Amino acid sequence: MGYPQNIMDYYYPVARLQDLEAATMEGKPLAAVLLGKPLVIYKIQGEVVVADDRCPHRGEMLSAGAVSEAGLQCPYHGLQFAHLGACARIPAHPQVQNLKRFDLRSYPVVEFHGLLWTNLGAGAFYDLELGGAGESQRLVVAPPVNVNASAGRQVEGFMDISHLPFVHRATFSECSAEAMPAYNVEPFDGGFGFEYSSSLGNYPFGYSSPKDFIWRRAYRIHAPFIAILDIYFPDGLFTIFNCASPVSEEQCVWFYPIQFDRSLGLGSDMDVNAFSQKVQMDDLAVVERQRPRYIDLTSDSEQSFGADLASTAYRKMLRNLGLVKA
Ligand code: FES
Ligand SMILES: [Fe+2]
Repeated sequence: MGYPQNIMDYYYPVARLQDLEAATMEGKPLAAVLLGKPLVIYKIQGEVVVADDRCPHRGEMLSAGAVSEAGLQCPYHGLQFAHLGACARIPAHPQVQNLKRFDLRSYPVVEFHGLLWTNLGAGAFYDLELGGAGESQRLVVAPPVNVNASAGRQVEGFMDISHLPFVHRATFSECSAEAMPAYNVEPFDGGFGFEYSSSLGNYPFGYSSPKDFIWRRAYRIHAPFIAILDIYFPDGLFTIFNCASPVSEEQCVWFYPIQFDRSLGLGSDMDVNAFSQKVQMDDLAVVERQRPRYIDLTSDSEQSFGADLASTAYRKMLRNLGLVKA
């Protein structure tokens, strides 16, 4: 892996909370890969544990194991892992007391915005200035998408403004204006923001915006792989919390929680997810075709134009983090 240590110090999402709940009900753990490291995720008595997905006995994959009130059990010889990955029992030798050398290495866990986040290094959680879904808002978390492209490619594509009339023309209504407005990038601690206004619609194809309505879109980019987009709909606010978790230099998992004002009346969670998935599939097709599958921060082989101001700022930010491939 070519990731510098400070990239390991960030928190990344590894699962949806609702998927962990469902797996626990079925007596199963979840598996994830973050920055090349296979992880197992399980719940024991309300506590979430994220740990190495490898049994310290004979290297069996623990994500193939079973979860009960007592924690996670390895499928090979039944070693039992409890709070913080501590080994609690060796069935072949129930009298053995000192089990410490069989403990799993576990990682810090944060539950935020419907997602479970972990950190393989030592950094603090983000200061995201993002309120939780209160009475007036709904949070809908689409299923994560496995992407055959880097986290940097995915996030850069999300902040790209000039692809809408080409990639999403058949998905969003009134999405045909090709010329892009000028905009500015404003840095803040740990990232930058920018916004633009245009006639490009955000309703599903076939629905019209009010006459002469101008859509305002405001982005906040947090290093390294979070992009938050506020879209000002005619009747309220719609926020996409786009984050990509790096699996390897050429793969990521794409998380896509959406929070929006109830006044938008967007239908059931299934309806909201169905439309999100349509938008995501448009973007996925492009991001998986880009070559190389990562942003090469050492070369200038990709040329930019004015509308790429945000992506140029993003690349600079990633370069300043010490990344070579993002
Ligand atoms: S390999 Fe896990 S208990 Fe033996
Ligand atoms: Fe897009």
